[in-house]
Amino acid sequence: MKKLLALLMVAVMMLGLTACGGKKVDVGIVLPTKDEPRWVQDETRFKDALKDTNYSVEILFSQGSSAKEKENVDALIAKGIKVLVICPQDGSAAAAAVEAAKKEGIKVISYDRLITNTDAVDYYVTFDSIAVGEAQAQYLVDQATGKGNPLYLYAGAASDNNAFLFFEGAWNVLQPKIADGTFVIKNSSEAVALQNKPKLTRDEMSKIIGQVTTNWDFNEAKNKAEAHLTAAKKEDKGNVFILAPNDGTARAIADAFAADKDVTSYKVTGQDAEKASVQYIIDGKQSMTVFKDVRTLVKDAIGMAKDLLEGKEPQTTGSYNNGKIDVKAKQTEVIVVTQDNVKSALIDSGYYNASDFTGLK
Ligand code: BGC
Repeated sequence: MKKLLALLMVAVMMLGLTACGGKKVDVGIVLPTKDEPRWVQDETRFKDALKDTNYSVEILFSQGSSAKEKENVDALIAKGIKVLVICPQDGSAAAAAVEAAKKEGIKVISYDRLITNTDAVDYYVTFDSIAVGEAQAQYLVDQATGKGNPLYLYAGAASDNNAFLFFEGAWNVLQPKIADGTFVIKNSSEAVALQNKPKLTRDEMSKIIGQVTTNWDFNEAKNKAEAHLTAAKKEDKGNVFILAPNDGTARAIADAFAADKDVTSYKVTGQDAEKASVQYIIDGKQSMTVFKDVRTLVKDAIGMAKDLLEGKEPQTTGSYNNGKIDVKAKQTEVIVVTQDNVKSALIDSGYYNASDFTGLK
């Protein structure tokens, strides 16, 4: 009788625990912000891909705040996650959050952006970010004829390791064309000072990015572009070439350049193939984007998480140094999209529906 009572008590206690402790979660996913279509898109693609898994997954957003990100990770740790997939708001600030997870024996997968200066990252799933910057720059080079073409440089947030990789890639391709006079940099004295250096150190890139960062913020991008246009002389405008780091900032910068009466034409780059930018491309307001098929990144992240839950070693294609360790990584290729291949790259591949756009040929 006593035994039965004890058993009953244990059962009641366990029920109580589940009731107040909430559902257990196997995989926690933390994304940077809902304010950019890019990350809302990742959430949607995660949800699509997770429909058929038996594992329980929870997705949380950090809303641009490293403090909120840490709270999210702590909440997921409390729910018993075994794997954390995290795209950091700030690559080095996120180290504390993943170190807390690591202490609990949780496996950490850095998603799209690398978490830096910590040994608490187990894996990294990413696109080839150097190739993104190279593709953006190559587009500008291919469009330019003659010498002295005005070039305006913009970059992502300095807290995002990817901003450096994109810029490094772009510099690889642009620098020789700046050195030979095809392009003339109009909006960064730091870039001008370094324009004869084919390879920049991280500190040198920091100096340039410090001047031309958008912080991945549309308003900051717009304000900066307007300030540059106000400061520029008429002869620094005309037919301009703009390295914009991603779609959100590209649209903001493009709008600013389009509104300047001394700008005759502009070519502007982007990345992410956000719907609004695809429409801009169809309408001739943005020149190109770099399509990063989020379905693949999501598939890789989930595949890795599943392997880890099942005690298997995930497959990787290389590694990235995060300032402290080499993190094993799986990398995905990217595709350039212009007006000419919107349909084949984005519609025929099932990424978007033709009905999402107007004027598509
Ligand atoms: C991502 C881009 C994104 C940017 C701003 C980068 O780390 O790779 O796809 O546009 O952050 O959120």
